[in-house]
Amino acid sequence: MDTTTADYSEKIPNNVELNSDRRLQRALESWQPNFLNWWSSMGPALPTRDVYLRTAVNVGREGWAHFGHVAMRDYRWGIFLAERDRERRIGFGAHKGEPVWQKVPGEYRAELQRLIVIQGDTEPASVEQQRNLGATAPSLYDLRNLFQVNVEEGRHLWAMVYLLHAYFGRDGREEAEALLHRNSGSEDAPRILGAFNEETPDWLSFFMFTYFTDRDGKYQLGTLKESAFDPLSRTCEFMLKEEAYHMFVGTTGVDRVVERTAQVMREHDTDEVVAHGAIPLDVIQRYLNFHYSVSLDLFGGETSTNVANYFTAGLKGRWSEQRRADDHRLTDDSIMVDTVTEDGEIGQTEVSALIGLNTDLRREYISDCETGVARWNRVLAEADLPQRLRLPHIAFNRKVGAFSGIEAAPDGEQLSTSDWEARKDAWLPTDVDKTYVRSLMRPVYERGKIASWIAPPRNGINGKPFDYEYVNLP
Ligand SMILES: [Fe+2]
Ligand SMILES: [Fe+2]
Repeated sequence: MDTTTADYSEKIPNNVELNSDRRLQRALESWQPNFLNWWSSMGPALPTRDVYLRTAVNVGREGWAHFGHVAMRDYRWGIFLAERDRERRIGFGAHKGEPVWQKVPGEYRAELQRLIVIQGDTEPASVEQQRNLGATAPSLYDLRNLFQVNVEEGRHLWAMVYLLHAYFGRDGREEAEALLHRNSGSEDAPRILGAFNEETPDWLSFFMFTYFTDRDGKYQLGTLKESAFDPLSRTCEFMLKEEAYHMFVGTTGVDRVVERTAQVMREHDTDEVVAHGAIPLDVIQRYLNFHYSVSLDLFGGETSTNVANYFTAGLKGRWSEQRRADDHRLTDDSIMVDTVTEDGEIGQTEVSALIGLNTDLRREYISDCETGVARWNRVLAEADLPQRLRLPHIAFNRKVGAFSGIEAAPDGEQLSTSDWEARKDAWLPTDVDKTYVRSLMRPVYERGKIASWIAPPRNGINGKPFDYEYVNLP
């Protein structure tokens, strides 16, 4: 059987031959209505007739997606793993060179389950955070992109739930239920990670979230794609393809906000763009500062023995593990990690490379983030404007890791708590900023029209024009 093509004749579309395992199929089919209940109560709140969405049909390189108008409640969420490589061997850690695992080794069961639950928890969390954005979309094109991201995050939840059901027995089924019970921002049962309990109250936040926070997801999935547990690796490989689109939404979204602001600044020869319904560059910078710093926290502490153990065990590798020119075991290597030194200064210290793996991953992420900033700055340069956006210092506004106990300005200057309190409004979104941004959030649902604060996209979706009927409202 061709395992790259999804079977859509089944209740749950899949390319994992779900019908050959009746017990698993029944378990997932009984989870399905709970998922749909969650989707209708916590998913996109705006009623729609149909949306021009892509659906995965084939995980191979060619033509893996089908585009068409679908009613969102009828979206076919499915289970798709990248093709199996029968020769695949473990690429790192103590088991390097051994064949990858098709079952969960008993000794690593608890750790693997934990990794899958943490990843799984972020997927529905972002759908919940973005639930109300449909009410204020700047165009039908953007509305459609929001919903595309939402259905795919729903599918990513399916991907993790499949693994829990298929490989972790009763514990796994209970965790799959819990993924629907925790909710973003809930008092009693919040999502596991901090950034996924923050609000996404406006579209500037949405674009910053898809740029910075979905990108954290890309890096986490990248490490899990290396896993010795082959089904996890194959799941993550396919999720990364979908994730690339979420990052496109973030990158081009911020692009278009900056472009519009630059246009207004040029046209009216002023920094005071508020009168013209655009978003000032310093507000954009403060939103960037916030989303970047909370996303840095998602990578955890600079040093971690847990992560060292995950690596040695083969559960979680490094970003681009295969491209690294070292022994992939790291038992004799070291890395300089960020720290607050004994005299209280921001500095670095040398630790074993295994212990410092979070730092390694965060650095890969940071250099990726810089490409976006460079791109947004090109928009400013092309408009002949001298202003530039920048990533704040790694110690800025951190709540997790080495810098959680100190305060630092975006340029890295260390501050006393009182100085921080007095000056932080210059660097993080203020109530005035948020109120202003929210005041701009009025829906534009007419075909081919767009809100005042954002430029139209260069291209439409799947070759369609900008004024295409991307969403039909009731
Ligand atoms: Fe995702
Ligand atoms: Fe995503």
